[in-house]
Amino acid sequence: MSNLFDAMRISSLSLKNRFVRSATWEGMAAEDGSCTQKLTDYMVQLVEGGVGLIISGHAYVSREGQAGPGQLGIYDDALIPALASMTAAVHHAGGKIALQLAHAGCNAAEALTGLPPLGPSVWEGEKGSRGREATLEDISRLVHAFRQAAERAKRAGFDAVQIHSAHGYCLSQFLSPFYNKRQDAYGGSIENRARIVLEVYDSIRKAVGPDFPVLIKMNAQDFVEGGLSAEEMVRVASLLEQAGMDAVELSGGTAHSGAKLSPVRVGKLESPDKEVYYRQEARLFKEKIRIPLMVVGGIRSYEVAAKLVEEGLTDFVSLSRPLIREPHLVNRWKSGDTRKSTCLSDNQCFKPAMTGKGLYCVVEAKEKARAKESQ
Ligand SMILES: Cc1cc2nc3c(=O)[nH]c(=O)nc-3n(C[C@H](O)[C@H](O)[C@H](O)COP(=O)(O)O)c2cc1C
Repeated sequence: MSNLFDAMRISSLSLKNRFVRSATWEGMAAEDGSCTQKLTDYMVQLVEGGVGLIISGHAYVSREGQAGPGQLGIYDDALIPALASMTAAVHHAGGKIALQLAHAGCNAAEALTGLPPLGPSVWEGEKGSRGREATLEDISRLVHAFRQAAERAKRAGFDAVQIHSAHGYCLSQFLSPFYNKRQDAYGGSIENRARIVLEVYDSIRKAVGPDFPVLIKMNAQDFVEGGLSAEEMVRVASLLEQAGMDAVELSGGTAHSGAKLSPVRVGKLESPDKEVYYRQEARLFKEKIRIPLMVVGGIRSYEVAAKLVEEGLTDFVSLSRPLIREPHLVNRWKSGDTRKSTCLSDNQCFKPAMTGKGLYCVVEAKEKARAKESQ
């Protein structure tokens, strides 16, 4: 068996294999962002499917940072008990779970929050301007919100937290010259653009202590003109490494990168050479950085995943859409059935999550319905 099933560690956290469920918004939380039994059951299903570490869907750290409906919240102590029931259920099933801490920045859903989106700069999109530029006071509040959210996650029994600094959400906007037009200490050079991310990390670290694993998801590149480059990503990773970050997950793209280069690229990955969206950037990262790396995006084949690890391009293999289609994919592969994931990467799964039904694979549901009809 390949080393995909090696037992692994991230700081104090021991994991049974190298497979990670990358953060995936499930659209299953209640209107106020609290965790539901449906979401808990979904997480337990993932544990039973064999994944070593689950990263929750992005949880908004303050109200104005909500990105969409049915999203988990972590902005208030009142949300802790339901989350604690979820972590207890995951642990009872033998799993490990991290909470992803997020703020959508100027991509927040104003229609849901009733608050103007807040970003590094006013973003002049095609549909007019979005939000307002964060003042220095807003930045301190943001950092504090992430800190409090991490404290709550620890109290709720999560095994780790992951800072969401990818996909053109708030912290990724600060990193990106495409969104960040500031001329103060939080804009300009990459060190300045990374300042808030390091402040968030330091603040969280002070709150959760030295042993609690703190992870980050960041873009390998933004794939927009004038966005964060791969070289800048390596520089940020180096700053985070010096600061004590426990692991980095590399993703890429933003809402403005187009369907072909978005974080959730559309298109079936027909052959192994088309898989792994950020292979080159993982190589750049591994040349310079020593902290554990997770790579997500477009990994569909067992052999491709095994080779990525064997070649030292990643320490962990992160999957999102393949586990929507097949929550038991990891155990299927472990059992010796190493056929490719059946996920078509067509993104139809967004629709039920958006319309209140909760995340599921639409293609699979249609196939099942057809099979039932023909019986
Ligand atoms: C329905 C859906 C929801 C997602 N929600 C999140 C999220 O909450 N946080 C995040 O960082 N990425 C999110 N992503 C992106 C995935 O984590 C992952 O980066 C992306 O889907 C590429 O990986 P894949 O090819 O294995 O699906 C989401 C993706 C999908 C399909």
